Amino acid sequence: MAVPSLLLCLLLLVSPHLGCSYHTSYTRDGRHHVLRSNRDPRRRPKPTCSSAHSAHSAVPVVHRLSPCSPLAGAARNQQPERRSVADVLHRDALRLRSLLHREEDNHRTPAPAAPPGGGVSIPSRGEPIEELPGAFEYHVVAGFGTPMQKLPVGFDTTTTGATLLQCTPCGSGADHAFDPSASSSVSQVPCGSPDCPFHGCSGRPSCTLSVSFNNTLLGNATFFTDTLTLTPSSSATVDKFRFACLEGIAPGPAEDGSAGILDLSRNSHSLPSRLVASSPPHAVAFSYCLPASTADVGFLSLGATKPELLGRKVSYTPLRGSPSNGNLYVVDLVGLGLGGPDLPIPPAAIAGDDTILELHTTFTYLKPQVYKVLRDSFRKSMSEYPAAPPLGSLDTCYNFTGLDAFSVPAVTLKFAGGADVDLWMDEMMYFTDPDNHFSIGCLAFVAQDDDCDGGTVIGSMAQMSTEVVYDVRGGKVGFVPYRC
Ligand SMILES: *[C@@H]1O[C@H](CO)[C@@H](O)[C@H](O)[C@H]1NC(C)=O
Ligand SMILES: *[C@@H]1O[C@H](CO)[C@@H](O)[C@H](O)[C@H]1NC(C)=O
Ligand SMILES: *[C@@H]1O[C@H](CO)[C@@H](O)[C@H](O)[C@H]1NC(C)=O
Repeated sequence: MAVPSLLLCLLLLVSPHLGCSYHTSYTRDGRHHVLRSNRDPRRRPKPTCSSAHSAHSAVPVVHRLSPCSPLAGAARNQQPERRSVADVLHRDALRLRSLLHREEDNHRTPAPAAPPGGGVSIPSRGEPIEELPGAFEYHVVAGFGTPMQKLPVGFDTTTTGATLLQCTPCGSGADHAFDPSASSSVSQVPCGSPDCPFHGCSGRPSCTLSVSFNNTLLGNATFFTDTLTLTPSSSATVDKFRFACLEGIAPGPAEDGSAGILDLSRNSHSLPSRLVASSPPHAVAFSYCLPASTADVGFLSLGATKPELLGRKVSYTPLRGSPSNGNLYVVDLVGLGLGGPDLPIPPAAIAGDDTILELHTTFTYLKPQVYKVLRDSFRKSMSEYPAAPPLGSLDTCYNFTGLDAFSVPAVTLKFAGGADVDLWMDEMMYFTDPDNHFSIGCLAFVAQDDDCDGGTVIGSMAQMSTEVVYDVRGGKVGFVPYRC
């Protein structure tokens, strides 16, 4: 049975203001059921904006649209067009493009060359800070320097291979920027140091790269080291943490005020790489739990105890490197379940494919042959419901508006090594009204372009409420269901 029985009769609560569209949900026999109900079983508590998991070194994680977001632009982000499916798909497309390092339009900046083996790419005007409207989907607050300057930053497991910060004085009016001159513990990385990924350093003694585009100098990226502290727990403190200060590389008008990107990749200077050397053998490098709705708070945990030692149910899949990008964590998606049984996906279509767990795409991107099997089976099992027109690339949509009840077959992601992740309704279906399942609902999976060899990208929706555990030393990634 694909869906654990503990989900039976699990109540899903919706916002109290919706009147007649209260509903209850439960999972039985491999299907998620939704019933219309006019009884409000329990008022949803207002977000308290503090993490329930104040465990060792856990840092609260909020979505860019959260009322708890520390970003100055958060209010602006509440505008309805920033929640539309077109906006979500647009952001996903930009992110996928930067993941694939596709630079097809020539008005986009070729990333100033990182030296071979350097493993660092400094974005210039174009990506990711400017071009992603609102930058990153999820944020934490990190403290840099002495005294600590608290800055809201995105966190990322995949792209740049360096922690990036907007720095003053040329932060172009960014609400949040690091001021190196105000820190007593900061130092510049010298050019030629093993910590400097550039050759030449634009003719300067410091590890600096001048970033230009179309013969116009945009600004400078300079590597510094300073103390990094993750709050509220100050036990995650890293001395001489390396990051690149971006000066003059201005965020665009759609920028949300976040100060940069915290690197959680496999790069040797990433935060987990720095922590793993000093962490005890019972600890994992890091884990995160993405909040199940924008009003909730998740967590990012560093150096926490292995979940199985805490009695939690966890399933692991082996972690491997990527030959083309040493900064990536790669796993294998080996199959999909629908309503219980495995889908008949030809092993050749899915086996050995690179799969990444991506924080900054919302939907999950499958190879076209794999998506087609999922979609066709899903449609077959949904034939009794009125179809709705596609929403962009979401081509399997239903109009649940006038119904009193409906059910959908549950999707299970099956990873190598027997790790199965069961997706709850809101992790596999996109609803045009997120607070009301009796709206238009679409299967939240997308076929990748035929010409794109990007492997499989598991988006944030499919990871919501599951704690994803990176046991880097143990060479595996674990999934702890229903953790936030
Ligand atoms: C590059 O610069 C030239 C000359 O300044 C300008 O005409 C052109 O539009 C610029 N190209 C882009 C893509 O900005
Ligand atoms: C980049 O560095 C150069 C040389 O030090 C300096 O002239 C220029 O003003 C800097 N640009 C920005 C945007 O900080
Ligand atoms: C959904 O169905 C309702 C009637 O039940 C109809 O009024 C509405 O226009 C439909 N919406 C779409 C997008 O098909």
